Amino acid sequence: MSTEGGGRVGQVREVTSLANPLVKDIKALALKKFRDQQNAFLAEGLKLVIDALDLGWTIRTLVFAKSGLGNPAVERAAARTVAAGGTVLEVTEKVLSAITRRDNPQMVVGVFEQRYLPLKAVRPAGEDVWIGLDRVRDPGNLGTVIRTADAAGAKGVILIGDTTDPFATETVRATMGSIFAVPVARTSLEGFLDWRKGFSGLVAGTHLKGAVDYRTVRYSGRPALLLMGNEQQGLPEALAAACDVLVRIPQAGRADSLNLAVATGVMLFEARRAALSLPGGAA
Ligand SMILES: C[S@@+](CC[C@H](N)C(=O)[O-])C[C@H]1O[C@@H](n2cnc3c(N)ncnc32)[C@H](O)[C@@H]1O
Repeated sequence: MSTEGGGRVGQVREVTSLANPLVKDIKALALKKFRDQQNAFLAEGLKLVIDALDLGWTIRTLVFAKSGLGNPAVERAAARTVAAGGTVLEVTEKVLSAITRRDNPQMVVGVFEQRYLPLKAVRPAGEDVWIGLDRVRDPGNLGTVIRTADAAGAKGVILIGDTTDPFATETVRATMGSIFAVPVARTSLEGFLDWRKGFSGLVAGTHLKGAVDYRTVRYSGRPALLLMGNEQQGLPEALAAACDVLVRIPQAGRADSLNLAVATGVMLFEARRAALSLPGGAA
């Protein structure tokens, strides 16, 4: 394989065996225990890997299928991995399938270092919008919220209490790459309540018993945090009591609530309406 500059990438290792210890370590990243031990996670697909490199995430290993040989974009990613001190593995389809647990895996997989924003670094200003997620359980919901936060221009997500892992492969897949663009902080319930005391912007909790229509709240002109409840239990009393307002999204029909990620999307696009409005207005 040649590097971007036309030289050779000397550090590429060819791996064909599932018993290879490097492959075993990467496969183990399917489990949270090993992700935490290694402080690492998997991102699948060349676009995601390139986005992550562009955004300054630390790559440990780039894995690519033999079919990627000669692909200039793969070669550039490999050269960047080596330049960053990482390892490049050229593997068989069988090895790549085993790593991703998929029959038709992407041609490229990256192993990246996990990264959380410390809660004390979360200081919303101006018209920043942040999302607080209470004990989110479902990886698909968390990934979709992170993707939607990215699309709506929210500044980041605070995970509160015992939540699902933002670096689980299923979550990363659902973010479609936004995991690399949206800062994620995590904290306990107590840690959040403590942080909230120092936050003078709007905390809008979403609640099925909320007395206020979510469209009547002024989100602009100050920083805002949208607080979303757990999928089964909704917001606990301690979090509801910490909100400036409890809002409800009016519903029709028989469904008793919206899906968490859908409710977050509705809230986000309302809170960011002014910032997102297109020039020209209504036709
Ligand atoms: C699936 S719902 C939780 C339902 C739960 N059984 C309850 O009693 O709250 C998950 C979260 O989405 C938000 N949510 C869903 N539908 C909503 C609505 N109509 N109005 C306000 N928030 C809503 C809330 O944050 C809620 O805690």
